[in-house]
Amino acid sequence: MCGIVGYIGEKQAAPILLEGLEKLEYRGYDSAGIAVFDGTEIHAKKSMGRLKILSELTHGGETLPGTTGIGHTRWATHGAPSDMNAHPHFNQDKTIAVVHNGIIENYMKLKKKMQDKGYTFKSETDTEVIAHLLDYYYKGDALETITKVMHRVEGSYALGIIFKSEPDKLYAVRKDSPLIVGKSNIGNLIASDVPAVLKYTRDVYFIENEEIVCMTKDDIQFYNIDEEELEKQPATIEWDIDAAEKGGYEYFMLKEMYEQPQAVSDTINPRIKEGKIVIDELGMSDEEIRQIRKIYMIACGSAYHTCVSAKYVFEGLARIPVEVDLASEFRYRHPIYEENTLAIIVSQSGETADSLAALREAKEHGVRVLGIVNVVGSSIAREADNVMYTWAGPEIAVATTKAYSTQLIAHYLLAMKFAQARGTADEKTITEMVKDLKKLPGQIEMLLENKKKIQKFANRYLATEHVFFLGRGLDYAISLEGSLKLKEISYIHSEAYAAGELKHGTISLIEEGTLVVAVATQEELYKKTLSNIQEVKTRGAFVMAVTNVGNTEIEKTADYVIYLPKTNPYFTNSLAVIPLQLFGYYVSLGKGLDVDKPRNLAKSVTVE
Ligand code: G6P
Repeated sequence: MCGIVGYIGEKQAAPILLEGLEKLEYRGYDSAGIAVFDGTEIHAKKSMGRLKILSELTHGGETLPGTTGIGHTRWATHGAPSDMNAHPHFNQDKTIAVVHNGIIENYMKLKKKMQDKGYTFKSETDTEVIAHLLDYYYKGDALETITKVMHRVEGSYALGIIFKSEPDKLYAVRKDSPLIVGKSNIGNLIASDVPAVLKYTRDVYFIENEEIVCMTKDDIQFYNIDEEELEKQPATIEWDIDAAEKGGYEYFMLKEMYEQPQAVSDTINPRIKEGKIVIDELGMSDEEIRQIRKIYMIACGSAYHTCVSAKYVFEGLARIPVEVDLASEFRYRHPIYEENTLAIIVSQSGETADSLAALREAKEHGVRVLGIVNVVGSSIAREADNVMYTWAGPEIAVATTKAYSTQLIAHYLLAMKFAQARGTADEKTITEMVKDLKKLPGQIEMLLENKKKIQKFANRYLATEHVFFLGRGLDYAISLEGSLKLKEISYIHSEAYAAGELKHGTISLIEEGTLVVAVATQEELYKKTLSNIQEVKTRGAFVMAVTNVGNTEIEKTADYVIYLPKTNPYFTNSLAVIPLQLFGYYVSLGKGLDVDKPRNLAKSVTVE
């Protein structure tokens, strides 16, 4: 994780760097720092804590002169958050400054070597080794030096580098961590992600693995690891800076929840033509779809939860076996690869290290890979054989909402497409499903209107210590997400259980007043879940139930009921998630926590 920025141009660099870092704070926020070159010296300022402390320390950057600089916002991996471990890091005589996103895996070995050569280290970071290595190899040619360092380090990195001896240049390089370059009329910029440069430009170069960038204030050159110059074309970013601003909402999470109706409809609409599902970007003919024998669905976090949901939908509707894997497990579990298998990698950022590694692992074994990705041009989008974008727009809050909702939609569309091609669902069924699909944005909007009621309920549970989420089938899948939403932003311990499983141990934790959230939207499992609700109720639980409109007898057992409008049974997760997101949000808000930036977390997890 971590965010890096860099600027070289006509304006004072520090305020521009701080602005850019603010847009990247979602990537990490335990410390921040900038280094600016004023033509004579490289001046640095670093601080533990949120970016605003650094901004205050430098009066919004005003106190740091110079028009070339680099900046960093950190999510600690090696060495605790501290001023000393904050980036930028330097060589001994402070003539080289570097910011880094990623992990240098062989840093211990390299550190020892550099120490043996007389280098002293000031921080506990893996990054500092890069600063010293750059110093060690530098003989006046920065490009050559960078390639030498690239040959020595193992792991992932996006680096921004300034050399005092090359006052009019800024260097950057990447391997397995994201890096973009923005070309603007006030100078050139580097960043980990597009929002950091959008104020100044929409012309962006996506840097590929092992590409090196050398920029002056009005020129940008790209090189490969053999120092050969490369031709690259910029892409034009279509979305607006407003999309990455709070726009009057107290938190990004609330804004993004409210963007769900639009995001869902943007993800559905382009894929429905004359009542049929058409997914051109799938790049597979109906005949090829019919040949698929098995699907791997691989992801992390909430994206993984969408895969758990998708298994039920694909297997039920398209009658095709699905294996769901956490990317961090898949990449090392040596799965048995068979012919005619498709791997679907799901990721909002398109940069999650484990998901990217799982993608490569699958591809290496000849498995065709489809990415369901939100960030256009991200690594997973580029490396997958085909990519289906979720049109959620930029998501800033660490706890995902709209990306999750659009991922669900992508799964439904794919499952319907597979069912259409494989003949496991007739035309009438698909037509009915399309109708229900199109109703989802309006229904989500309606559920969001319940927010005051849910806030009131949430406020009663601010001091609670444990919450259990229960459900069967698809309701189990949504319980996993509801539980994660709550725990990640409210710091309340919560767990999700398949409702029938609770009695095999966990029910012993239920006592007078324990909050249990039971989801019961699957009509064929409804009665079974009702019995499980009864079991916890008998042991003193306070039950909040989420069920379909009309299931009023649940009120005899549950203490508080949220009704969902009617939809196709495969789509209920898209509706059930809304009250669960609101619940997590309002508990966090009520506890006075930073909803968008929960402790210890980061949005883009580019380390293993
Ligand atoms: C982090 C985020 C989650 C996200 C997960 C996977 O943990 O906080 O919201 O689901 O990473 O990220 P991805 O970008 O691959 O969807």
